[in-house]
Amino acid sequence: MKYTYYGQSCFQLDIAGKKFLFDPFITHNSLAKHIDKNTIEADYILISHGHTDHIADLVEIANRTNAQVIAMVEVAAWIKKQGVKNVTDVNFGKSHFDFGALRTVWAVHSSSNPDLSYGGNPAGFVLELGGKCIYYAGDTALTLEMKILADLYLIDYAILPIGGHYTMDVDDALVATEFLNCNKVIGVHYNTFPPIQIDTEKAQAKFKRENKMLLLPAIGETIEL
Ligand code: NI
Ligand code: MN
Repeated sequence: MKYTYYGQSCFQLDIAGKKFLFDPFITHNSLAKHIDKNTIEADYILISHGHTDHIADLVEIANRTNAQVIAMVEVAAWIKKQGVKNVTDVNFGKSHFDFGALRTVWAVHSSSNPDLSYGGNPAGFVLELGGKCIYYAGDTALTLEMKILADLYLIDYAILPIGGHYTMDVDDALVATEFLNCNKVIGVHYNTFPPIQIDTEKAQAKFKRENKMLLLPAIGETIEL
């Protein structure tokens, strides 16, 4: 499985021959100026919630790739309104796709669409594919809801927001590893804006001290998981 980071909470998982793109936000990210969004491939695009920093480049990438877009009902309705054809709405629970099962899970946050229409509830996702189990938390505060995932899954990697202010910070993410029973974290949602600036070296040292791993690939970097 390959993980490519595109900044903020945008990343691509290349797993079992399928490319999953999450929360595309590139053009308006000053840290991602070197990324050419026209080269990004996707078979599926998953949207955690309707905030601009998760959806700004969706319409263009979806139309170019004809990827299947998966989002909560209210966000999916907004996406369809933009003329995107291949959209599947989901709600909390387990959904079955041609690639396998996807669980849409609770995130403690808010959600509105770019036109400020109601975005329903924000979400995270658990993806089981190619013998791996990946949890992407979306934008969320620390929540006991995460504990149920440790009962349901053996999570290989947890992709967690670590920038604080709008979401969990590094210390909360460390607590989340206990809730999730998963010591391998990939950090997202940090450094893009002043309120979510963090000291990445200190963050990784905190994880190391507890014998946990915090992966922070550079924007544009691909890592093998
Ligand atoms: Ni948000
Ligand atoms: Mn966000």
